[in-house]
Amino acid sequence: MTWHGKLLTGMALNKHNIKKKPGKYRKQLEQTAIAGDITEQKHTKKKSAKHCEQLEEMLKERTRQLREADENLKIEVDIRKKAEKKLKDYRKQIRSLTSQMSLIEENEKRRIAAELHDCIGQPLALSKIKIGFLNKLKHSDETGKIIKEILCLIEEAIKETRTLTFELSPPILYESGLVPAVKWLIDQFRYRHGLNIILIDDGQDKPFDNNMRFFLFQAIRELLVNIAKHAQASKATIKMAGKNSKLHITIEDDGIGFSGPAVNCTGYGLFNIRERMNHINGVFEIRSRPGKGTRAALLVPFKLDKKLYKKELP
Ligand SMILES: Nc1ncnc2c1ncn2[C@@H]1O[C@H](COP(=O)(O)OP(=O)(O)O)[C@@H](O)[C@H]1O
Ligand SMILES: [Mg+2]
Repeated sequence: MTWHGKLLTGMALNKHNIKKKPGKYRKQLEQTAIAGDITEQKHTKKKSAKHCEQLEEMLKERTRQLREADENLKIEVDIRKKAEKKLKDYRKQIRSLTSQMSLIEENEKRRIAAELHDCIGQPLALSKIKIGFLNKLKHSDETGKIIKEILCLIEEAIKETRTLTFELSPPILYESGLVPAVKWLIDQFRYRHGLNIILIDDGQDKPFDNNMRFFLFQAIRELLVNIAKHAQASKATIKMAGKNSKLHITIEDDGIGFSGPAVNCTGYGLFNIRERMNHINGVFEIRSRPGKGTRAALLVPFKLDKKLYKKELP
């Protein structure tokens, strides 16, 4: 474009350029330049106003989107909170049910044990006495032989009934307490599974009621069954000590151990212990490493929360 052309459009003219042009055009040039400046300013203003409008529109749209996202988030948080509450309630229910199931199971076992003792154990004991009398009467050698055989069979049945009664619900647990019952349990495991178990007890009183005694006895039995069933251990140690208003029970073995969280396995044993312990505000921990044995710990408050505990007694 020529300088005249530029002049007409008012483009790219500065004072330096204008000063260089011939005198008769200077004024016209200056006026055109000012007019050009104004046009350009107007154009820029218009452009920036449009740009501003566009920005405002974009801002409005973005704000709307953010508001919508915020609303959706609020709804999602609400749904999540409700789901979490439901889950919490379900867990509470499971704990309570597990607890109640254990108590129902215990009562049922005690009932069957009592029936076994009264309805089978007693008549068997009486039969043994009567057959003993019969044996003292005059009889042939042949009869004597049969009487002896019957006596042996009755003896066996009495022994089995007693073992079954004890296994269902050891009277020693209710008559003498948790520690004597655990000692009896240890003898059973030594006799039946050849498991060498050492008990280290602090010798102090463990003031629990029958339900709690039964639960702890059942938990210790489950942990010992696990050792016999899974651990391939040569030795196990049970420690029982009262500390800071809590009973600490630890059961350790030197077996093969396991990896990962056993509590999440499909087995019911550890799950049952954990749920019940949670329900009474106790603690249950189990730690293990392959080849390094297993250590289970139970922490039970001596004073149990009545709201959690007593209300569910049958
Ligand atoms: N003392 C232990 N030694 C090795 N493995 C164990 C021991 N205790 C538990 N486990 C592992 O944890 C799992 C879960 O145990 P549990 O809940 O009692 O169920 P179950 O005994 O019916 O399998 C067991 O299957 C076993 O693999
Ligand atoms: Mg088990």
